Amino acid sequence: MEAAPPEDTPNSGPAFQPGMRFDVFTLFPEVFEPYLQVSILQRARLSGLVEVHLHNIRDWTYDRHHITDDEPYGGGGGMVMKPEPIFTAVESVLGSPPSCPVILLTPQGRLFSQAVAQELALPASQPALAGVPAGEKARLALLCGRYEGVDERVRQHLVTDELSIGDYVITGGELAALIVIDAVTRLIPGALGDPDGAWDDSHASGLLEYPHYTRPAEFRGVRAPDVLLSGDHARVARWRREQSLLRTWQRRPDLLERAPLTPADRKFLAGLEKEETS
Ligand code: ADE
Repeated sequence: MEAAPPEDTPNSGPAFQPGMRFDVFTLFPEVFEPYLQVSILQRARLSGLVEVHLHNIRDWTYDRHHITDDEPYGGGGGMVMKPEPIFTAVESVLGSPPSCPVILLTPQGRLFSQAVAQELALPASQPALAGVPAGEKARLALLCGRYEGVDERVRQHLVTDELSIGDYVITGGELAALIVIDAVTRLIPGALGDPDGAWDDSHASGLLEYPHYTRPAEFRGVRAPDVLLSGDHARVARWRREQSLLRTWQRRPDLLERAPLTPADRKFLAGLEKEETS
């Protein structure tokens, strides 16, 4: 676990630099700006921990109309993203072959999860282990598909990984790329004010998060649980763990099969099962 950054200069200590650089290849760079300009992503960028470079694929077209798509060979509906502008854009920025992973956002990719976010954030949190040269940022390239998809040769010869944010289809990879940037950034040491924050999030522990309460202690006749106001840290920790287990058992029992559980956790869950069957 990393030490907390000094309070007045978040992310400025040597332990928290150099962080991560994202290169995003898209036909719609303007959709990224508003989200990158608020909250944690904005702070991580301003502190120099995270860089997001947006590249408009259309800037690498050399025909008069700056065409980036074309009809599919073999017919059928929709349009396909042409390979030339994508290859030229990515190789101009990252070299040939590209010097870092190139991830295509597509509903056909492997499912994005907290575990995948951790895998992608690893070179930023353990640069030496991941072979990132000292003093350099870890790098990731994100390629946003549009229309019916990209020419298959992009998949075969340029892309190194494919990610899907879920089993549904959205209009393009841009929102998916923002989700990846957000989830990965939160895991870079120093990106959150609280260095443990991302590790407490839902899914980081393999369980859903416990319920949160803040002031007032009573709202519309509903009191916050007394244990949270007790000041007894051990009791609070136990209550939170049990609430996490309960919530996961109720809502996402599939997660319990993979979550690391202590003997006390198993006993608590066995109690829930017994209650249900009695
Ligand atoms: N593009 C369209 N749908 C997507 C999805 N589910 N995940 C990633 N990229 C996408």
